[in-house]
Amino acid sequence: MTPLIYAHRGASGLFPENTMESFYAAVRRRADGIELDVQLTRDDKLVVIHDHTLDRTTTGSGLVRRHTLQELRQFRADRGSSSRYSRARIPTLREVFHAFAETPLHFIIELKNFLSDQPHLEELVIEQIRRYHLTDRTIISSFNFDSLQRIKQLDPALTTGLLYVGPIPRPWEVAKRYAADQLHVPMDQLSAQLVKESHKHNLTVLGWTVNSSKDIQDAFDMGVDGLITNYPGRARKILRARS
Ligand code: G3P
Ligand code: CA
Repeated sequence: MTPLIYAHRGASGLFPENTMESFYAAVRRRADGIELDVQLTRDDKLVVIHDHTLDRTTTGSGLVRRHTLQELRQFRADRGSSSRYSRARIPTLREVFHAFAETPLHFIIELKNFLSDQPHLEELVIEQIRRYHLTDRTIISSFNFDSLQRIKQLDPALTTGLLYVGPIPRPWEVAKRYAADQLHVPMDQLSAQLVKESHKHNLTVLGWTVNSSKDIQDAFDMGVDGLITNYPGRARKILRARS
């Protein structure tokens, strides 16, 4: 199977992360899918932003959870990006789905609920996935394994990815415990052996965050089922050259 290329927070190596601008750029670069981070606003809307605070990536400050969606919409979301995108805003999950539901694009939705309380995040995300009929094209990932288990209980048809950092000696055992379908393995823990063993346990393997040309080549050589990269255009060129 040809490995899939997922654009990490969109084509975030070149565009402001987790914005519509970076997601459209990922599509132009022929990414198979986009990875994005979701969390809740004060009025329980699903917004796409990585940090729990606004300061690094937007012109706002303080906790995302302390702001309503309307308040968040006022802030620019191109802070920290190498270029200025004055119209870039924090998108809602709904807005992303609305833009791409009619395309073949796949989604990795990372639930950002391992540091702060995000009540009913799982239910709200599933509601949006169903509204846009995207169950077959969506993977839910999280560092919060209990939350992944909750997703499976709520909708066994959804694919879940156990997202981790650092070494886990037998990650397939952890995946089984939490009923996950995939391992999302940090690049420094990826190996051909790990991929092979994971496949034996019926788990697919995605590598993250695989950015340099060498790492992209190495990940493909190891037999990953997909990789998550800030540079989907680079990964696509390398994949084309190999085929
Ligand atoms: O999907 C992998 C990656 O997104 C996890 O880390 O911190 O970039 O959200 P982070
Ligand atoms: Ca993420």
